[in-house]
Amino acid sequence: MYPPKSTDPVRPAFCSRGSVAGVKADDTAALHRLADLATPMALRVAVTLGIPARLRGDGDTVENLARELAVSPVGLELLLAHLATIGVVERTDATYRTTVFGTPLCTDVDPWLTMLLDATTAAGRSELAFVEMAHSVATGQEAYSRRYGQDFWTDATEHPQLRDSFDAQMTARFVTQVPQIVAGVDWSRFATLVDVGGGHGTLLAAVLEAHPDMTARLVDLERTATAAAQTFQQRGLHERATAIAGSFFDPLPPRADAYLLCDILHDWDDQHAQQILARCADAARPDSRILVIEAVGDRHTHTAHDLAMLVFYGGRDRHLHELSALAEPLGLLIDTVTDVSDHRTLVELRPGRLTPWGAERASATRSTGLTE
Ligand SMILES: C[S@@+](CC[C@H](N)C(=O)[O-])C[C@H]1O[C@@H](n2cnc3c(N)ncnc32)[C@H](O)[C@@H]1O
Repeated sequence: MYPPKSTDPVRPAFCSRGSVAGVKADDTAALHRLADLATPMALRVAVTLGIPARLRGDGDTVENLARELAVSPVGLELLLAHLATIGVVERTDATYRTTVFGTPLCTDVDPWLTMLLDATTAAGRSELAFVEMAHSVATGQEAYSRRYGQDFWTDATEHPQLRDSFDAQMTARFVTQVPQIVAGVDWSRFATLVDVGGGHGTLLAAVLEAHPDMTARLVDLERTATAAAQTFQQRGLHERATAIAGSFFDPLPPRADAYLLCDILHDWDDQHAQQILARCADAARPDSRILVIEAVGDRHTHTAHDLAMLVFYGGRDRHLHELSALAEPLGLLIDTVTDVSDHRTLVELRPGRLTPWGAERASATRSTGLTE
């Protein structure tokens, strides 16, 4: 029967330290299982090496598999033994083979799950930065660069396979959200739109398909902007949509009716998030709108996701008062707040009249410049 009830009943027993009123032995064991790092790492290493897929069907011997993967037979045997403990593989007389329970760990069965676990993808590599979470908790900053020597975006720019896997992840995560966001926002108010950090352009393409009179520009880093241009070409939108390779920390195309920031601000700390908003404010006309679409903290609670945003990027899904605190010194006011999909809220910002206090803070913020 899979999965087994306990991953390793011996280890929790070692950790018991006498009794405290109200504390049950089962709770201690449950906490130990939650804290166990051996199992999540074993799953990640197995998927990264492609073991579940390789051992489907009849399976194979440790010796054959170790030779094929060029890994230590001793290390592999220990890994497979633990994978057997948790029910992902089973041992026969001479071989290990993948169980039915372990089959979703094969890419062709569940590409989303395997992408998250594979340490060579952007998602899998980022997850391993959780080892440095204490740094993020102590400082409020990202921990990715502590592990990898540079921040996520620089790393992704230097390693095209990370960049491509991140973009593929972004497209896959939004398959069900895109139609909801297209339907949930009144895009017809805008003749021109700039999608700031628009990724591969799948959301923008869907918006344009639903609104044939609209034209748009998408700004993203070079490799991603090139892919977005292909999206527009393939979907016959190239006459209405242009992809611009550039940074949203530099001036944006001016005077559009709306500037879209979809899942952008949560990737950045307060200083950088405010600088992105400032670029939108600088480019906007007095009657333009800035459309922030994110999982707003007041409406959606994803505690593990928040920790991931912090550890990977130094960001978080902000609450409305936090977004307002970033926007107001720039002269941007929250106009409306609308849930536009299962997991996203549109916070619509408009340039507003500044109080003298706000104007002072706005000019101080803009003169600070960028620390990229
Ligand atoms: C979480 S993804 C969101 C993509 C898209 N808006 C969506 O919702 O699918 C963040 C995007 O910001 C882009 N990005 C990161 N740094 C950037 C920069 N300095 N200038 C422009 N785009 C940037 C990334 O390349 C990526 O496409």
